[in-house]
Amino acid sequence: MTALTRILSTTAFKLAAIYLTSFTALSVFLFIFISQNTDDLMNKQVVQTVDAEIQGLAEQYAQNGINGLVVGVERRVRSPNSNLYLILDYSGNVITGNIAYLPEKVLSVSDGRIQFVSYTPLGFAETDQNKAKAIVRIFELPGNFKLLVGRDLEDQVHLKSLLGDALTLWLVGMVVLAGITWFFLNRRILKRIDNLSMSSRLIMEGDLAGRLDVTGNGDEFDRLASNLNVMLDRIEELMKGLKEVSDNIAHDLKTPLTRMRGRVEAALRQNLSENEGRECLEETLVETDELINTFNALLRIARVEAGSTGAELQSIKLGNIVKDVCELYEPVAEDDGVEFSVSLEDEPVIEGDRELLAQALANLIENALKYGRPTEENIKPTIKVVLSGNDEQAILSIEDNGAGIAAADRERVCNRFVRLDSSRHAPGSGLGLSLIKAVVTLHHGELQLTSAGTADDSESDKQSGLRARIVLPLNKGQRGEGEGNEAWDKARKKNATS
Ligand SMILES: Nc1ncnc2c1ncn2[C@@H]1O[C@H](COP(=O)(O)OP(=O)(O)OP(=O)(O)O)[C@@H](O)[C@H]1O
Ligand SMILES: [Mg+2]
Repeated sequence: MTALTRILSTTAFKLAAIYLTSFTALSVFLFIFISQNTDDLMNKQVVQTVDAEIQGLAEQYAQNGINGLVVGVERRVRSPNSNLYLILDYSGNVITGNIAYLPEKVLSVSDGRIQFVSYTPLGFAETDQNKAKAIVRIFELPGNFKLLVGRDLEDQVHLKSLLGDALTLWLVGMVVLAGITWFFLNRRILKRIDNLSMSSRLIMEGDLAGRLDVTGNGDEFDRLASNLNVMLDRIEELMKGLKEVSDNIAHDLKTPLTRMRGRVEAALRQNLSENEGRECLEETLVETDELINTFNALLRIARVEAGSTGAELQSIKLGNIVKDVCELYEPVAEDDGVEFSVSLEDEPVIEGDRELLAQALANLIENALKYGRPTEENIKPTIKVVLSGNDEQAILSIEDNGAGIAAADRERVCNRFVRLDSSRHAPGSGLGLSLIKAVVTLHHGELQLTSAGTADDSESDKQSGLRARIVLPLNKGQRGEGEGNEAWDKARKKNATS
């Protein structure tokens, strides 16, 4: 495409052309309207002046006859800026007047009607340049005399040409100005668009970290570029996540699969009894189930991270979820000899997905049950679930009195498949915290892992159990309102007695 066709096909050019055409048409219409109306108005005034003259002259004629009329005309002709007069005798000779030449056929129409004529004023040669326009009326008087009274239209012609010049100037100015404005604007727009498409081409070619230019002037291109950049950030994040997942799958799922394959191969080679064969198959089945669970967990995390769980965030009371989940785990904990306590200190209402939040809490409680065992035998394992809040946030904290997680490991344990060496004894795939993190991020919240026992212990490395806190933003204006307050009262009472 040549530069010209590229420019001609831009929206900016088309818009400019449409505006220019409409504006020109409107200006021409306005010019015709104004000049037509001024013309009519001025003609009317001229005719009125001529008629008043005629009235005056008619009175003079009535009083003093043709001689009186001639004297009257002569006097008027001498006054500056006089009207047009002509008196002819029966043979067409000029008796007096200020017109040098008039077409014959005009003089032949002497019934007093208005005539638009072109004439040569007295004292000028009869050439085309000396011709002027006028409105005249011609009357026949007794004795075959003819009287012409008229008025020059020079002022009108002048005004009309002035209007014409003004319109031409206006149109030329407008076109030039529109052209200049359009040219610079178009160049700027084209430059920005070229920039955007060049950056996007680079990104398409694999430079996933590349971003579109944002000039900072806040125009529509900046807004578009910023939004696209946010989208690219998100895509990059998802791509990274995808790559991480595939890497992890390659590393972490290969081992159990190889183990399974080895076992099946060995079983095939050995001559196993029916019972041994059954045992081997059962072991393989358990491992296959574990693999399927791991895959399901991975898919779930990916779906939550991509925000495509199909769940719509609704206004929910977090306390109800905590209550339901804790009711499930309380007996399990008691069976395990763990002291389990729930404290609902506040009744925050948040925007969230019930099922995902319940799953996140369950994962944290399961972790506390699995890894939160005190190292010293004489200390009773305890798990404390506390729901509290402030004006801005709901805080759900799950605390155990186990070995906790060293500060250096707290960030990485949230990555997929990360399991600390100290906890290899317990079953698990290292995906629980990843899911919790994804769920919390989906809810615009935060997952904080700290050491239990100290107030602000993010820096403390002292091992005194893990405190996992899910901090979620409140759904403002709905705190403790509406139905369900009774349930809260009951929960509080139950909590107080427990
Ligand atoms: N309460 C805790 N105390 C000490 N270590 C913990 C605690 N919770 C988690 N961890 C450590 O963090 C690791 C990751 O936990 P995560 O929940 O992601 O995986 P998992 O429990 O090992 O497996 P999964 O939850 O998928 O069954 C655990 O393997 C454990 O080493
Ligand atoms: Mg877990």
